[in-house]
Amino acid sequence: MSPKKISHISIIMDGNGRWAKNHGMPRAYGHRAGIKSINRVVSACSVRQIQELTLFAFSSENWKRPDYEVKFLLSLFEESIDLYVKELDDNNVRINFIGNLSEFNSKLLKKIHAAESLTKNNTNLKLNFAINYGGKWDIIDSINRMITSKSLDGKIVTPDNFEPFLSLQGSSPDLLIRTAGHQRLSNFMLWQHAYTELYFTDCLWPDINEDELDLAIKHYLKTTRKFGAIEEYDIISEEDA
Ligand code: FPP
Repeated sequence: MSPKKISHISIIMDGNGRWAKNHGMPRAYGHRAGIKSINRVVSACSVRQIQELTLFAFSSENWKRPDYEVKFLLSLFEESIDLYVKELDDNNVRINFIGNLSEFNSKLLKKIHAAESLTKNNTNLKLNFAINYGGKWDIIDSINRMITSKSLDGKIVTPDNFEPFLSLQGSSPDLLIRTAGHQRLSNFMLWQHAYTELYFTDCLWPDINEDELDLAIKHYLKTTRKFGAIEEYDIISEEDA
């Protein structure tokens, strides 16, 4: 049952503010450095043939931050899409956004949809950005869409018929990395992380590099995933029991 490979990594990118403070700079400086980290990690994942990377970029709770920081983050999203989408497309990366996108302005939405549409046939890394995303929102939104779709037709709800309504289709993350010391999920993909291996590091997001990524992957490769079952060598015959 040991994993042969790792195909999907998710990351809670935390610590931009503390990194900026450590450098005697405003928080915006840390968020800009965080974008460079995204580039490094995307390239490193591509080289390591990771198939999917899901980044928690803006949570549904991040609107509680001061107005100037929210405005800055939204303009940074726009700027980064303008700057990096062509390069990502050239590298055969498929870009996908998940979250409650309806709350973003039409200018940002246009850029999001253009990036998704330009890269939709790319086959290297699938790069998901979770923005205005919350795990509880995802589950409730899926329930509502399932009800509206009338697809149940008298049947009961099961994981199999429910999952297609969640915002992220396909594989769940094998490994979740959270940077900057806190050990919590912060409402990030509560359903999809049910059996994900968790890795926490004190490294602040702007300091992340290939070595840090490799430490996380090494941790994952050492774990035995059992999905609630037991390992074969633990199975004893009924007579021994
Ligand atoms: C956490 O650090 C970081 C964020 C809430 C924002 C992360 C977003 C980016 C790096 C930009 C994403 C870009 C795109 C293109 C979607 P923090 O501010 O919570 O740091 P702190 O805990 O040290 O204060």
